[in-house]
Amino acid sequence: MPQTILVLDFGSQYTQVIARRIRESNVFSKVVSYDASIHEIRKHNPLGIVLSGGPASVLLDDAPKPCSSIFKLGIPVLGICYGLQLMGNLLGGKVQKSQNREYGRSILRIKTKGSLFQGLSNEFTVWNSHGDCLAKLPKGFRPLAQTENSSFAAIEDPQRRFYGLQFHPEVEHSENGTDILGNFLFEICGCDGDWDMDDFIDSAILGIRNKVGNRKVILGLSGGVDSSVAAALIHKAIGDQLTCVFVDNGLLRLNEREEVKNLFKNHIPGNLKVSLAGSLFLRRLKGISNPEKKRKIIGKTFIEVFDQEVSKLGNVDFLAQGTLYPDVIESVPIGGNPAALIKSHHNVGGLPKKMKLRLLEPLRELFKDEVRKLGKSLGLPDKLLMRHPFPGPGLGVRVIGEVNGHRLRVLKEADAIFIEELRSAGWYGKLWQAFCVFLPVKSVGVMGDERTYENVISLRAVTSSDAMTADWSYLPDDLLRRTSNRIINEVKGANRVVYDISSKPPSTIEWE
Ligand code: XMP
Repeated sequence: MPQTILVLDFGSQYTQVIARRIRESNVFSKVVSYDASIHEIRKHNPLGIVLSGGPASVLLDDAPKPCSSIFKLGIPVLGICYGLQLMGNLLGGKVQKSQNREYGRSILRIKTKGSLFQGLSNEFTVWNSHGDCLAKLPKGFRPLAQTENSSFAAIEDPQRRFYGLQFHPEVEHSENGTDILGNFLFEICGCDGDWDMDDFIDSAILGIRNKVGNRKVILGLSGGVDSSVAAALIHKAIGDQLTCVFVDNGLLRLNEREEVKNLFKNHIPGNLKVSLAGSLFLRRLKGISNPEKKRKIIGKTFIEVFDQEVSKLGNVDFLAQGTLYPDVIESVPIGGNPAALIKSHHNVGGLPKKMKLRLLEPLRELFKDEVRKLGKSLGLPDKLLMRHPFPGPGLGVRVIGEVNGHRLRVLKEADAIFIEELRSAGWYGKLWQAFCVFLPVKSVGVMGDERTYENVISLRAVTSSDAMTADWSYLPDDLLRRTSNRIINEVKGANRVVYDISSKPPSTIEWE
């Protein structure tokens, strides 16, 4: 078992970011619910515990509290934000509503460095988000640092090795956050910092084997990064007990089915079932132009086709998915607080309930870039790992209006040209997503001496870090010119190319 730091989740939107920062420092970290029993906590044999932030107030009667014995384990505890207030409150200090709530940036002034601030400057910017504050320290604690609105912005009880930070060291905007967490991990908890993705693979494999035993697992492979990495990892754990199903819904990019088959053949040498369902999807989409209706039809038809493939396999117990942490945005439902409800996005919505399959989601604690690193350790090629995200309903939401074979062909060919040009100009990797959209608008053109009356292709290229916000990318003129020229010359059915210069918000990345 690797040296582990446990993060107790009190519902903060940053809980997983704490765990990820710890892993970035080469220490394994796991998030467990705030009310994990002492038995469960002991099972992980942690070198230290972090109490996360959270939306609740410790002043409320039903404030979420950890099992009180965590303070008797003899291991270091670091409380962050709500975690600090909780520790203050439970150990005999006093928390009250702040006169001046602290949100966003503030300057941290260090009075005593203690172990947490060793090697750091005396003043730097930190990021806050709290309405309560600690007004009286518990016995044994001393203040280390303050901000304008918090006299106890950082505290410690060096004897018992309990520490508290009122700000969020885990967020990007807090300066020296990684060093502060590093001091907790290495100086205080005594971690070695020798954990890496290969160790994750080892423990994930053990976890998968324990959970699955000798039963069968099915995985819906989309050909994207997440499902491919999940497939490679699960295959490494249980070999042929895994079957991957790839549904060709006819809404894929040019040559995508062949690429997925090759990827599989070369890198994940397991069972792959390919279901050719393009004509079924097209039949169902005939005459439908409302985007939400299209999405529903595509989702429902996918489930149907997938279901048929599963029944052909006989007994299957688990449905594996490449769900990542950002897909889950999971937190604990605390006191009915709406900010802390579980929002669970299943890649194959509805399947588990209907098919009574148990879920196997070995990537659900990881962020996208961690999954890419994991894929690299598993030997998957960069071309796959650096692929742009592709929506589940595929080109179905990139053909605006009704989807039909002609429109799909035009879009696929145009899109392949755009991506090829982006790759050869070295731009593909700089973008979050780039693709073409087929517009059901016809315009007049002239080719040779012929008048044409064809459809319009829009190019979309955006930068983003999480798809929540996005900006259109300022692509070089010559790249746009070459792409437009090639699409109009080479793709029969398109005679005009436009470039989408809308940001998100107020637009979205996809057009539908
Ligand atoms: P929007 O268009 O909402 O897209 O700005 C944000 C990100 O989500 C992807 N996307 C989807 N992914 N199923 C998916 O799996 C969908 O229905 C879907 N719609 C949008 C989109 O490509 C972008 O990365």
